Amino acid sequence: MNTKPQRLLLFFCLLAGSYTAQAKADAACTAALPETMRAARIQAAGGPEALRVERVPLPAVGAGDVLVRVRYASVNPVDWKLQESGRLNFPATPGGDFAGEVVGLGAGVSGVACGDLVAGVVDQRARSGSYAEYVAVPATEIVPKPAAFTLQEAAAYPTVSIAAWRYMVLAAGLKAGERVLIHGGAGGVGTVAVQIAKARGAYVITTASARNHDYVRSLGADEAIDYRSTRFEDVVKNVDVVIDTIGGDTLARSGQVLRDGGRLVSMTARIPEAMCADGRIVCPATPPWDVRQGLEGVAPLIAAGKLQINIDGIYTLDNIAAAQQHNRSGSTRGKVVVDMSSGADAAAGEGVAAARVPLQAYLDGHATGQARHFRRAFAADALLVGHKDGKYRQWPASEYIAQSASGQPPRDEARRQRRIRSITVTGDVATAVLELDYPDMKAIDHMSVLKYGDEWRIAVKAYDAHTPEAPQ
Ligand SMILES: NC(=O)c1ccc[n+]([C@@H]2O[C@H](COP(=O)([O-])OP(=O)(O)OC[C@H]3O[C@@H](n4cnc5c(N)ncnc54)[C@H](OP(=O)(O)O)[C@@H]3O)[C@@H](O)[C@H]2O)c1
Repeated sequence: MNTKPQRLLLFFCLLAGSYTAQAKADAACTAALPETMRAARIQAAGGPEALRVERVPLPAVGAGDVLVRVRYASVNPVDWKLQESGRLNFPATPGGDFAGEVVGLGAGVSGVACGDLVAGVVDQRARSGSYAEYVAVPATEIVPKPAAFTLQEAAAYPTVSIAAWRYMVLAAGLKAGERVLIHGGAGGVGTVAVQIAKARGAYVITTASARNHDYVRSLGADEAIDYRSTRFEDVVKNVDVVIDTIGGDTLARSGQVLRDGGRLVSMTARIPEAMCADGRIVCPATPPWDVRQGLEGVAPLIAAGKLQINIDGIYTLDNIAAAQQHNRSGSTRGKVVVDMSSGADAAAGEGVAAARVPLQAYLDGHATGQARHFRRAFAADALLVGHKDGKYRQWPASEYIAQSASGQPPRDEARRQRRIRSITVTGDVATAVLELDYPDMKAIDHMSVLKYGDEWRIAVKAYDAHTPEAPQ
């Protein structure tokens, strides 16, 4: 941009861009908000079964706050632990993690515009939590939605990323070339910790049940130990760092595997004084919880494609109890997500939530043009069969993915609509009906979704698609 005409062009482009952004922001901010919202509520200390979806007023937006329309929330163990132990301000709406759209700004907020897509964590002890259609949260506790993530992924990553960054990077100071043992590598925090450790150049050893060994290796683990059949201290020695996400006996036995001067951190409990007292190992202090610091810490890894989030189940708000039960089982692979936009599923439970994952990935493939979503959606040998404009075709999903994954979102994405109309699960088979409504194509997809081992994938897509007639 050296010549005057080029500089002028740039100026006008920027001006036009800022007007467009401003117009979008004003449109979103001036849009009428409802007086009430749907939220999961709990009256007193209790488990998932005590949650009820109710209509309540929207949370108040104070100075320095933003109001976010929540598109997805995610479940963390801290949610049900606070709820069950009575450490919420009852009656309460639990939930911390969320991703959605900014729809209101409190006094004094700058650097955030209405219409922005953001992710963050709301302090569920002090405020109305994220298992709701709206949250009000300090502007300091949100970040822009990472461009490489879908909204579900953006809702899934905050708490686990902040925790992994805080304990493993800030407290333990894990460095390139060090050997780290991460307990619970397949869980929410473990999934992120393994990838961060790998990206920092560490040698990563992790514990997980055998069914999750391929999974943790796919995240970058160099060694996986089946904690159900092997005592980790029998096979691991002289590591530089241990990251504990399990607690109890696992934490108690962890000192044995550290080299002299090795560092031990635990996310689950205060480390017993005796373990660190003789000075053989170091138990570093943990810096305070800081949403921005943690999420900005992992941002470059996300942008570089080095940090991915596995979604293990997607539940509707009406099935919030099943979502918490799923996480409470202690065997979540990655994260459990709550979709605020969909109505109730015909049936609750893990089958429906797991079958929803590839269906949502299929819709995400359409929305983003990214092949990784389509690959997550379809079985390797999946088949498409159907009519487009009355012409019959039968073809492999691999061909469909190659054709559909342009790498870019469609230019008219804002005018495209997609939804999952229904899901029914019978044993290890699910059938679902999806609807795609685009300016240049209308389609109904009947999906047969199968459980392959631990994961659900679309096995057959039978479709009926047509090109609408152009308006006269
Ligand atoms: N202090 C903080 O800031 C902070 C922040 C976040 C989380 N946390 C805490 O950290 C802990 C982990 O959180 P999370 O979100 O990762 O939980 P999570 O997703 O529910 O963890 C589930 C995982 O734990 C694994 N697991 C269960 N027992 C195990 C064992 N004995 N050894 C190894 N792995 C085992 C399971 O693997 P298999 O299915 O293979 O058995 C499963 O993948 C929770 O206690 C949570 O409250 C603390």
